[in-house]
Amino acid sequence: MRYTPISSATYVNHRKALADQLLPASLAIFNSNDIMPTNGDGSMPFRQNSDLLYLSGVDQEESVLLLFPHCSNPAHREILLLKETSEEIAIWEGEKLTRDKATALSGIATVYWLDSLHTVLKALMAEADHVYLNSNEHTRRSIEVETRDMRFRKWITTEYPLHSYKRVSPIMHRLRSVKSLEEIEQMQKACKITEAGFRRVLGALKPGMLEYEIEAEYMHEFLRRGSRGFAYTPIVASGFNACVLHYIENNMPCKDGDVILMDVGAEYGNYASDMSRSIPANGRYTQRQKAVYNAVLRVMRAAMDLLRPGVFLADYHKQVGQLMEKELVDLGLLSMEELKKQSAAQPAYKKYFMHGTSHFIGLDVHDVGLWHEPIQAGNVFTVEPGIYIREESLGIRIENDILITEEGYVDLMGDIPIEAEEIEELMNA
Ligand code: GLY
Ligand code: MN
Ligand code: MN
Repeated sequence: MRYTPISSATYVNHRKALADQLLPASLAIFNSNDIMPTNGDGSMPFRQNSDLLYLSGVDQEESVLLLFPHCSNPAHREILLLKETSEEIAIWEGEKLTRDKATALSGIATVYWLDSLHTVLKALMAEADHVYLNSNEHTRRSIEVETRDMRFRKWITTEYPLHSYKRVSPIMHRLRSVKSLEEIEQMQKACKITEAGFRRVLGALKPGMLEYEIEAEYMHEFLRRGSRGFAYTPIVASGFNACVLHYIENNMPCKDGDVILMDVGAEYGNYASDMSRSIPANGRYTQRQKAVYNAVLRVMRAAMDLLRPGVFLADYHKQVGQLMEKELVDLGLLSMEELKKQSAAQPAYKKYFMHGTSHFIGLDVHDVGLWHEPIQAGNVFTVEPGIYIREESLGIRIENDILITEEGYVDLMGDIPIEAEEIEELMNA
């Protein structure tokens, strides 16, 4: 394994927390993701279903988790079903999880091969009244293909049409939004790897360098530190490109005088980090660039202080908008006239700051979470204000990941250079 996994004790706790939320006589079923095909015999790198990972640590395709906390047979209260390993598979694909390894990883004693799924289900379904099935209910999902969960749902609801079917995803969103200690440690590791990448780039960047050469510097540092790479498609956007919010071509030269917006984060053990830094190609910000940079930094720091237990994210975003409005006026970007014309639905600051300030982060970079409930200790959020001035070919975003605590927050990226002067110093060292 490339990364040190979370201990089985944490997975045991996660399953216990889920079991506490289920109705009596309930079976909850989780499927792994598919390996997605490309062309010919090619496939995309495997990415496990985050809920299955959260509950078991099993990072392997063709896996099923059955949880039946009130099952009369104690051995069947937790069952893991895995793709069968064999010497033949080991020769071609390398070692897959053996039953013993799966037990050590997950803390689940009963591990069967996947071909016994239908037989096992016959016994369990006879005893279950409710069946909790998983589905992707992320508010911004976009899914064209039929997932393994969808195929399984079709099969089981046809085979067993009279059970009471329930959604497990609202429970998973609740559980996953409050991070366990070991999850935070994985995220901290991901942030440290991102930091190493950023420091490497600070030492390497020169005018004329191509955006993808910067991307390569990050990737080099990520891989050699046990990450499998970027937690999401990286943005390396010089000059005007920084004003294209989802710019991912990363193929232009960084010109003398440009600021380069880099939105990059390493993954570690399937946990994401998400950082943005905006740095001058030639190692010195102009006075104007620095003024905009410091405005964004002030908003970021004030926003971090607003994120605390009990606060609603909608209220927080409104307050950050007001802070940004003041900065944009001071920068001469918004006039009093524009402020008079604004409305709650169309605030003036949106002209230069078009996206949200914070999102949940965890196993997924845009992680699931409780958007309409008060913030809780254990939530992890990004804080990422930005100002994008198309007419000046200047886009600045600064983004850190913070853990909410009872007393306030811990900045998981607190060691990553952020002050304009510190960045200049490191670039000119
Ligand atoms: N990197 C994606 C985001 O900042 O939300
Ligand atoms: Mn980001
Ligand atoms: Mn983000």
